[in-house]
Amino acid sequence: MRVEVADAFPDADVLAVPVGTDGIPPGGDLQGATRIAEEEDLAAKAGRTAVLYAEEPSKRVVLVGLGPADELDADTVRTAAASVAGATERIGGTLAWLLDDSLPQAEQARAVVDGLILGTYDPGRWKSGTKQDHPFERLVLVGGDPSLADAAERAATIADGANRARDLANAGANMLTPEKLAERASEIADEHEHLTAEALGPDEFTELGMGAFAGVAQGSHNPARMIVMHYEPPSPRGDVLLGLVGKAITFDTGGISIKHALYMEDMKGDMSGGGAVVESMGVIAELGLPLRTLAVVAASENAVGGGAFRPGDILTAMNGKTIEITNTDAEGRLVLADALHYARTLGATHLVDFATLTGAMNRAFGDLYAGVMGNDDGWRDEIVAAGEASGDHAWPWPMHRRYRAIIDSAFADMKNSSVRGQAQPTYAASFLQEFVGEGPWAHVDVAGTAFFTWGRPDYLTQKGGTGYGVRLIAELATKLSE
Ligand code: BES
Ligand code: MN
Ligand code: ZN
Repeated sequence: MRVEVADAFPDADVLAVPVGTDGIPPGGDLQGATRIAEEEDLAAKAGRTAVLYAEEPSKRVVLVGLGPADELDADTVRTAAASVAGATERIGGTLAWLLDDSLPQAEQARAVVDGLILGTYDPGRWKSGTKQDHPFERLVLVGGDPSLADAAERAATIADGANRARDLANAGANMLTPEKLAERASEIADEHEHLTAEALGPDEFTELGMGAFAGVAQGSHNPARMIVMHYEPPSPRGDVLLGLVGKAITFDTGGISIKHALYMEDMKGDMSGGGAVVESMGVIAELGLPLRTLAVVAASENAVGGGAFRPGDILTAMNGKTIEITNTDAEGRLVLADALHYARTLGATHLVDFATLTGAMNRAFGDLYAGVMGNDDGWRDEIVAAGEASGDHAWPWPMHRRYRAIIDSAFADMKNSSVRGQAQPTYAASFLQEFVGEGPWAHVDVAGTAFFTWGRPDYLTQKGGTGYGVRLIAELATKLSE
């Protein structure tokens, strides 16, 4: 999406006017807007719209409510923008959006872009008929500083990346196999300078000693891939090598510890963390951020079959630690164990992983916040801050070394699950901590935020993949490059 800035409403296909509790911003009282906004009580609800037939050459004027002033935030603006796009779906062309004084202008600009691009994503891409992308080709921000155009275009690059991550999550496991995800990583690398991708197959990762990953992978006819991407910009800032790690279980049946049938189809989204990491690498390269970045994405199916690993098996991870399998459905932590260790051996100074790891995180935080754990409070808080600034909401989740005893095993260094109905996200993180080596690491459990069983009543009303993580990672990488 191209973005421009103008002083007054240009000749655009759609003119959008936000309506706050204080009414309509200066320059927005088009065609009786003030009276209509009052009659329809638009200000009362974020995203409530009134569509007016505009005088030529424009086609529509859309008045959109921002809701109560004390609840107004960037998500309100995202929701309002998504609502405007939804109400003018068949118009397209150029949208002019009148900025107001509700939020800092750069924040408004980014939020409008997020709402337009993420809010119009169509998950029905396998339906017969034509697929439509987001409806507006060009956005004009009215009443803003010219520097906003650049910030808004960067936001568009990021949101487009998030939508591509949604495509990956929404693809069935018959289409998006581990090999296909690896091909997508190569495709992204081919499109960008300074970005490379490779993928280790079963012989290679077994040879490297990735026994935890190999254990999960052995049950599927679709061979697994450990995907590795390197972004090496010409003049990087500082000594940081950001290591992004992702869980990409293309389908999680639970394995021999098989899952219930209800909603099992959503387990095609169990690769969402890894999908977000792969697409984020393209976004980071596209933005040209001066930050060395590494991605390690563990892509495998967790299948049932004669070759599958079983409860009672003992696996040896790449770092030499042994794991008793007590539940084959706790497979995410197994594939991450080797991915995290491998990322560290490749030189990552700062690690962060994204994983749909525990049903308990979904139950606890639902669809709005991801939980962030780690071995370094400062690093964890940087992840949380990047999430909050970007719209990928994140919140700290506690860890303590005393939780570690819960995964003690009688036979091996640890077991991969506990039957206790307590603190499951923390047990999983305590397990991961055994494999992260020295240096800061944070774990983002995106089980509730990455793939929706139902939509969310804001700008992400669609079922399925949300692209969670792409905005957070882009924000984090931007901050680390400053
Ligand atoms: N992929 C699931 C977690 C999940 C559940 C993500 C629901 C999104 C929605 C993960 O592999 C899993 O099965 N976790 C188990 C672990 C348990 C067996 C210790 C869980 O949380 O139930
Ligand atoms: Mn599982
Ligand atoms: Zn899983």
